[in-house]
Amino acid sequence: MAISKKMMNVNALNQNIHLYACPICSLPIQVVDEARLVCEKNHSFDISRQGYVNLAPQAHATKYDQSLFEARSIMMTNGFFDPLLERMIALLERTFEQKKNAVMMDAGSGEGSHLAHLLSKLSSEKFSGIGIDLSKEGVATAAKNYPGNSWIVADLANCPFQSNAFDVLVNILSPANYKEFTRLLKKDGLFIKVVPEIDYLKQLRAIFYEKTEREKEGNPVDSVAAHFTKVQTERVIYDFPLNSLLLESLIRMTPLAWGASDEKVESALSSNLSFVTVDFTMIIGTNC
Ligand SMILES: C[S@@+](CC[C@H](N)C(=O)[O-])C[C@H]1O[C@@H](n2cnc3c(N)ncnc32)[C@H](O)[C@@H]1O
Ligand SMILES: [Zn+2]
Repeated sequence: MAISKKMMNVNALNQNIHLYACPICSLPIQVVDEARLVCEKNHSFDISRQGYVNLAPQAHATKYDQSLFEARSIMMTNGFFDPLLERMIALLERTFEQKKNAVMMDAGSGEGSHLAHLLSKLSSEKFSGIGIDLSKEGVATAAKNYPGNSWIVADLANCPFQSNAFDVLVNILSPANYKEFTRLLKKDGLFIKVVPEIDYLKQLRAIFYEKTEREKEGNPVDSVAAHFTKVQTERVIYDFPLNSLLLESLIRMTPLAWGASDEKVESALSSNLSFVTVDFTMIIGTNC
């Protein structure tokens, strides 16, 4: 008999349950009756019908809503992030050539496509994965679309995991919490942060804000270097072809449109842009 998506997620939770810590008291957690996670002090967290768990008791609605995640999902299935993810896969294969059973966390996993894509291309003997995000909508979508991994509503500022739990931590276009990241990664664990670069979506920025350059908010390489060793960067830059559906999804998926007037959003939608520049830096560090 085919196993349900929820059970696939419960099995994935069981596989790495020794890594979890109760978000209230930090004690270890167990899966009970395939229905909930319970800690040694009896704090209890239900496994949802889609198979995700909310371990952020104070989770609140974020600006990242269902429509944004649907749009990101459309862009991802159409390969928007593929060149970036291919570079990440090559890096992971090189770094973990000799290793088995490595556990990867995607911190700020959104609707789950990145982690699911990475895991689908890497050997399942070598890697399993846990995606965490504060947005319930994102995590529920991930649990439904990508069963067989663990999807957790959690706050980056209070990650419900034991210290030294993870071999890899990826943090893609999401906020960082370096105190938690260095606590969570094993010694010699790999940290990969992806940040947008100066030309990211420059054609859209020109329409929305009449300037093409991104304003840099601090230097993320310095922040990574302050917490990790052997820091390197890899720039990934390419043009992504658009059609009208993809242009609309691109506009819906990016926080860039949040600050633009309705008029500017309309002119972006009717702009017939045939491609957009995608420009990222991967910042790679090792935990010491
Ligand atoms: C721009 S989205 C990127 C999501 C995904 N990595 C992607 O590239 O599609 C930023 C994500 O960070 C998440 N986020 C923001 N603050 C967070 C926090 N304190 N804890 C966990 N996730 C957070 C948001 O919910 C959102 O899903
Ligand atoms: Zn507890």
